[in-house]
Amino acid sequence: MKKFNYGKQFLDFGDIWEVIKTLRSDFLTQGPKVAEFENAICKYMGAKYAVAVANATAGLHIAMMALDIGSGDEVITSPITFLASANCALYVGASPKFVDIDSSTACIDVKKLEQAITQKTKVIIPVHFAGQSCDMKAIKEIADKHNLFVIEDSAHAIGSDYLSKKVGCCEFSDMSIFSFHPVKNMTTGEGGVITTNNEKLYKKLLLLRSHGMTKDQQILTKNDGPWYYQMHEFGFNYRLTDIQASLGISQLKKIEKFKKRRREIVEFYKKSFEKDERFSFLEEKDYANSCFHLFPLLINFDKIKISKKDLFLKLQENGLHLQVHYIPVHLQPFYQKLGFKEGDFPNAEEYYKKTISLPVYYGLNDEDLSVVVKIIKQLIK
Ligand SMILES: Cc1ncc(COP(=O)(O)O)c(C=O)c1O
Repeated sequence: MKKFNYGKQFLDFGDIWEVIKTLRSDFLTQGPKVAEFENAICKYMGAKYAVAVANATAGLHIAMMALDIGSGDEVITSPITFLASANCALYVGASPKFVDIDSSTACIDVKKLEQAITQKTKVIIPVHFAGQSCDMKAIKEIADKHNLFVIEDSAHAIGSDYLSKKVGCCEFSDMSIFSFHPVKNMTTGEGGVITTNNEKLYKKLLLLRSHGMTKDQQILTKNDGPWYYQMHEFGFNYRLTDIQASLGISQLKKIEKFKKRRREIVEFYKKSFEKDERFSFLEEKDYANSCFHLFPLLINFDKIKISKKDLFLKLQENGLHLQVHYIPVHLQPFYQKLGFKEGDFPNAEEYYKKTISLPVYYGLNDEDLSVVVKIIKQLIK
């Protein structure tokens, strides 16, 4: 029986060869491949600066630090996201706040955003859920009105467009943060990148990524000799290696090819499940052109005989090892201890009851897709 995950990397010989070349070079880390990857990202997205990092969680953490977010500050994000989008506020001692989702996209509901802003709010972190960009122009307008920063959580969205420009160009944000975990649209194993058009933020992110250390003559307050470095920020080792960067350079060249296939897969699923009141999907808005990271199938469990849990177990027995994106963050025990409770964000909670992410990745052929659809339809009679 063939097994299907909800997401999976696609590596070809070219990718492997690039990694081998780096393994045989002088630098496994802190060499030229990281800058080469960052330049390729800037060129692809149309951003001025890119800082490659160990993963998107690390990227979110130093993005908060670069903006001096800390104790007493509030950070707004969506409850339908991975933990890291909210945890990054806690890392710096700030308070995460949530705004419910728009049920048609599972992205933050822009109409509800303004009423959640207080005197303490400093940052909005819109999450481009499943790959579809949030309505960034509308979010930026609200942010500007209230003097707030915008950090895009673009973990799902490499390859996606918003108003015909690449997500990551930062036209409507201060920073945009991507993940290259193997289930994402392209991979470096673990990895991430932050893009920005702000030189000051860029320089601070570079320091924060590597212990706050610098050898830059313009920053040093004195110089004891060629070995000399100084620590100017309280940073971390959040670096990406050259091995990972060389994989990233090679994968990025294929992202538009990956996107084409991802969009075909989503079309296939939509055609297979449309016009059936037991199923629905998220809408793709006119402003977006998504490099679909996920295809959440929304199942009306009131209209079928099997529960979500039993369906999930049966799918596993049939080789479909799927996932649910996401358990609303405010329902996590840790967040409940912070005072959030069931009922706080009804759209997110309703969405969670219905959603299951079907397999979307480049390596799936049409026969695979037919098998996936057939198994689901057989189990949901
Ligand atoms: C929306 C979102 N934000 C942030 C992250 C964190 O990414 P990473 O695993 O690269 O740290 C993820 C990872 O799944 C994610 O889905």
